[in-house]
Amino acid sequence: MLSLRTLCPHLARPRPESALPHWLTDPWITDWLHLLARWFHLVVGAGWIGTSFYFNWLNNNIRPVEDPSKRLAGALFAVHGGAFYQVSKFKGAPETLPKTLHWFKWEAYLTWISGLTLLLLVYWMQAGVMMVPAGSPLSPAAAAGLGVLSLVLGWGVYDLLCRSPLVRQPRLLAGLGLLLLTGAAYGLGELLTPRAAFIHVGAMMGTMMALNVFFVIIPGQRAMVEALSRGEEPDPRHGQAGSLRSLHNNYFTLPVLFIMVSNHFPFTYGHPLPWAVLAGITVIAAGVRHWFNMSGRGEKNAWILPVSTVSMAGLAFVVHGPRPPIDAAAAAQAPAATVVEAIVHQRCTPCHTEVPTFAGIDAPPKGLILRTAQQVHDNAAIVHAQAVATPIMPLGNLTGMTDEERATLGRWLDAGAPL
Ligand code: HEC
Repeated sequence: MLSLRTLCPHLARPRPESALPHWLTDPWITDWLHLLARWFHLVVGAGWIGTSFYFNWLNNNIRPVEDPSKRLAGALFAVHGGAFYQVSKFKGAPETLPKTLHWFKWEAYLTWISGLTLLLLVYWMQAGVMMVPAGSPLSPAAAAGLGVLSLVLGWGVYDLLCRSPLVRQPRLLAGLGLLLLTGAAYGLGELLTPRAAFIHVGAMMGTMMALNVFFVIIPGQRAMVEALSRGEEPDPRHGQAGSLRSLHNNYFTLPVLFIMVSNHFPFTYGHPLPWAVLAGITVIAAGVRHWFNMSGRGEKNAWILPVSTVSMAGLAFVVHGPRPPIDAAAAAQAPAATVVEAIVHQRCTPCHTEVPTFAGIDAPPKGLILRTAQQVHDNAAIVHAQAVATPIMPLGNLTGMTDEERATLGRWLDAGAPL
């Protein structure tokens, strides 16, 4: 008989006990919330990065023009989407302001808010499975609190540095910034699961970017507009502070985007030295950004790009190089599929099955079912990536997989997962 339950199989699934009303914890609600929040985050993030790249490009390509008023820094002509455009840049402020002045801030705020929503849904609300490593004395609430604290502290320290005399020494500031971020990655990595540590460092940088807009760039612009409307010359310090933060945001973009996507590639955060991977990526990505900035200004620092490319290839090889080919002798001695099945049954199946028995997991994560040797065989590459090459799975090693079991699984997979 056709019923709501046959149309929507989720409704028929038994649910674990929970303090929250079950429609709130039902996977179809949480899955859709995750998906919609991520979609929204990507869309507004693209808007933010897009305007940031566009204005950066404008600044690099504006050229001096004939200007009897002597107030223009330059102009630029462009053609896009079948229309021609002319953009002029003022040296300081224009004499008068038009009625509509466009501001660019909601892209930044919405990206940050939706990013925090994702952190809340994926990490803070599931801190027990997503943030607390095996054997850690941290409670889920403490782990989530640490995540929140890292964002607050990150901003506080960064903002202090930007207001200190160090701003006059950009190289020193950049070096110190990298050191502090790497330190944060190391410290969080010691306390939280590597994946949570990675995303929180990315979120720290994202927070610095969004709060730069909220606390420095926009208030500065507002003060400049107010001065103009009173007929006064705006205080140039607002403009200077704004451009400094804007420049920092510009260098943050590529590393932040990399950290965000790397969250779906366990070989990055699952490396034995995740903080070193993160520092390497940050330097390379900021280097690429630097090259774009320099070449946009017509400075020929051609070496930066090849050095970044070679470093990236080197890092890729060290972090996740090609796997050795299957060795026939090892294959002959591979553990039996039944042995592997028994391990998987104990360590993976509690979460990775149709109706998980592990408390707090109410649907097979990522739809991945690992109950039989055949299913492990069919997912050999991702199982190897998450449970052999890196100890990401079992999540937080909550089912207590031993190194020996991991090695057995590895030998079987390396031998081609014979059934
Ligand atoms: C405590 C619950 C739990 C246990 C036990 C567990 N996993 Fe997972 N697994 C998860 C969660 C949650 C995710 C989804 C993580 C995410 O959102 O990316 C996941 C994701 C995965 C993925 C990624 C799937 C994909 O398509 O990206 C693989 C592979 C995986 N697990 C393998 C294993 C293996 C192998 C074991 C046993 C050695 C195991 N898991 C044990 C909870 C668990």
